[in-house]
Amino acid sequence: MSEIISKESKIAVLCGGLSSEAEVSRRSGKGCYDALQRLGYKNTELVEVDQNIGTKLKQGGFEYAYNALHGKYGEDGCIQGLLEILQIPYTGCGVMASAICMNKEYTKKILSTCKDIPLAKSVFVRKGEDITEMTKDLKFPVITKPVSEGSSFGMTKVNSRQELASAYSDAVKYNDDVLIEEFIDGVFVTVGVLEKDGKNFATEILEIRPKNEWYDFEAKYTPGMSEFILPANLSKELTKQVKEISVKAHELTGCRGVSRVDFMISNDGIPYVIEINTSPGMTATSDLPAQSKVMGISYDDLVQIILNGAGLNK
Ligand SMILES: Nc1ncnc2c1ncn2[C@@H]1O[C@H](COP(=O)(O)OP(=O)(O)O)[C@@H](O)[C@H]1O
Ligand SMILES: [Mg+2]
Repeated sequence: MSEIISKESKIAVLCGGLSSEAEVSRRSGKGCYDALQRLGYKNTELVEVDQNIGTKLKQGGFEYAYNALHGKYGEDGCIQGLLEILQIPYTGCGVMASAICMNKEYTKKILSTCKDIPLAKSVFVRKGEDITEMTKDLKFPVITKPVSEGSSFGMTKVNSRQELASAYSDAVKYNDDVLIEEFIDGVFVTVGVLEKDGKNFATEILEIRPKNEWYDFEAKYTPGMSEFILPANLSKELTKQVKEISVKAHELTGCRGVSRVDFMISNDGIPYVIEINTSPGMTATSDLPAQSKVMGISYDDLVQIILNGAGLNK
């Protein structure tokens, strides 16, 4: 794997942070740190992100930041903005793409400008709006989601209109704005997008079959509650289409370096984009390392590819 960043560079692997995903981020960060050490970047340090991160980065004299943060402040443009101000080139998406993709409403608004990207029918409900009126054209079941949470927090599958109000009140605990989306019966797949030699490409497609009705918090984080099929069991044409849509979605939202695009493929074969994750998990058992490995990209190669994409806004 070619490297473009000097092995002598001082690199901060950013982990932990102020989100509900801090613990997962520490595991992602440790994995990336160990890989960077093996790759010969001996001046790499694991840096825990807290409210003193600006001082830590300045006083530490870091030349690059490797972003292993997930969720609020780490994946939503905040840390990216700080790194821009400090002029420390960082891995992954920039301020704008991070902010857009953290919000499922704005992601869908941007993706809807491309006719080749199928999106499930949905409405966005702002605080105080009349949900009954707003959802009158939606077919049930639907799924209710806080617009900028992860890990399936605050989400409910709603089978009938009678159950909508209580599902909405669960979602609105997390964010004022709630996305109510038609439920797609089918298979869940997720695809990584990486960049090499200035060109974006999709990884292999991972299919996840949760034992629950959908990939909820329990199915995501309880060993044995989901089955992983890699590469996904899709036709050649659908595989090609899903990969093309992933790269298109990554580019339309202005992503850089790395992302992971989630899909629900309906039983009649339509791949609906559900969301884009701009700082995918990098633990030993995370999706992106598995998707990469099956196409011959080892964990260390993956970390090198992501590091090579480090930069600042131009
Ligand atoms: N429209 C939908 N139809 C069916 N299942 C869905 C739909 N949207 C989300 N899901 C299920 O919920 C899971 C989490 O949804 P997602 O939007 O990716 O939120 P998160 O940011 O929490 O991962 C998905 O992996 C999928 O299993
Ligand atoms: Mg998801």
